Amino acid sequence: MFGNLKPQAPDKILALMGEFRADPRQGKIDLGVGVYKDPTGLTPVMRAVKEAERRIWEAETTKSYTALTGEPAYLDALSAMVLGRTRDSDRTAMLSTVGGTGAIRQAFEMARMGNPDLTVHVSDPTWPNHVSMLKFMGLPFVEYRYFDSATRGVDFEGMKEDLARAKKGDLVLLHGCCHNPTGANLTLEQWAEVVAILERTGAVPLVDLAYQGFGDGLDEDAAGTRLVVSSLPDALVAASCSKNFGIYRERAGLLMVQVADPAQRELAQGALAFLGRQTYSFPPDHGARIVQTILEDAALAADWRAELEQVRLGMLSLRQQLAAELRSLTGSDRFDFIELHRGMFSRLGATPEQVQKIKDDNAIYLVGDSRLNIAGLNRDSVPVLARAIVEAGV
Ligand code: LMR
Repeated sequence: MFGNLKPQAPDKILALMGEFRADPRQGKIDLGVGVYKDPTGLTPVMRAVKEAERRIWEAETTKSYTALTGEPAYLDALSAMVLGRTRDSDRTAMLSTVGGTGAIRQAFEMARMGNPDLTVHVSDPTWPNHVSMLKFMGLPFVEYRYFDSATRGVDFEGMKEDLARAKKGDLVLLHGCCHNPTGANLTLEQWAEVVAILERTGAVPLVDLAYQGFGDGLDEDAAGTRLVVSSLPDALVAASCSKNFGIYRERAGLLMVQVADPAQRELAQGALAFLGRQTYSFPPDHGARIVQTILEDAALAADWRAELEQVRLGMLSLRQQLAAELRSLTGSDRFDFIELHRGMFSRLGATPEQVQKIKDDNAIYLVGDSRLNIAGLNRDSVPVLARAIVEAGV
């Protein structure tokens, strides 16, 4: 049986993690996988998470199953955090998922159940695993223009032109904030134009919100998503708690499916329960319980928000430092886009050869498309990276 297996191409981001670990050079710098690191290189357990775990440990009396679609109190607390006042509970079905990736995968499954003929529209570029999952599922997809390699901003005219070609019932995958891998994001005015196109075409949005709180703030980062759900009849939102709660390995995520009519909600909720049961039955609970415990307690939530804000501001200040360093080394403002980008990532616009040279000469690891994880830097490594970028001729 297994002799028939074909070798699978390794995920480029995960392969880079392995390559970095195996590099014996002192002072190596990992700007690959999207994991937050503090200035000492640690991915800390957040204070509120530690405290929530302590409370859970003390209070928990059973490890029996919770609900098939996830603990209702978790779904309630997290959906409120994501959608704020735009949440329409009568029209929203929810599923606790195995991280943000699980939410995306189940969103694709739901969309296919709703429309077996759908085409999925993804940004060019997008998170490589979006494309990988679509290929694996045999779901047809097309790319819409997104990144302008000259300005390193959004090619909004191209994006609008391409999205206007979407058909009724197609799925349009949008990054809610902190676009991965480019770091270039839509303004709220641009979100409004995208919503108008979706309204005209009848295509359905799937918002991937994996970095809420890492860009401009918790509410600011959800503003596009909230505009989408409050303006359109059907919408899917996939949220992740991996990054903003720093609970990567706990796999806590949420899929929300907003339907046009409250009468359809039960159907959608049933479909989500069915999908969960077919894949892994009950979702994991520990990460979800941490999030619920934090969000339900005003003091814990305030402490979590404060720590998250510190993380966000730290990344912003590294962006400013890197842009300033490159300005002084090159005597030009052509790297100022780094300061304008938001979230963990920026796409530098370097060639694969330049990315390779930066790695060979300096033991600095960027993803092959020249995506760099800002959170992998600190005040001391920023000048090292800036010099490496210039020496590689970027
Ligand atoms: C990334 O893009 O680096 C993260 O989302 C981690 C992953 O799973 O790829």
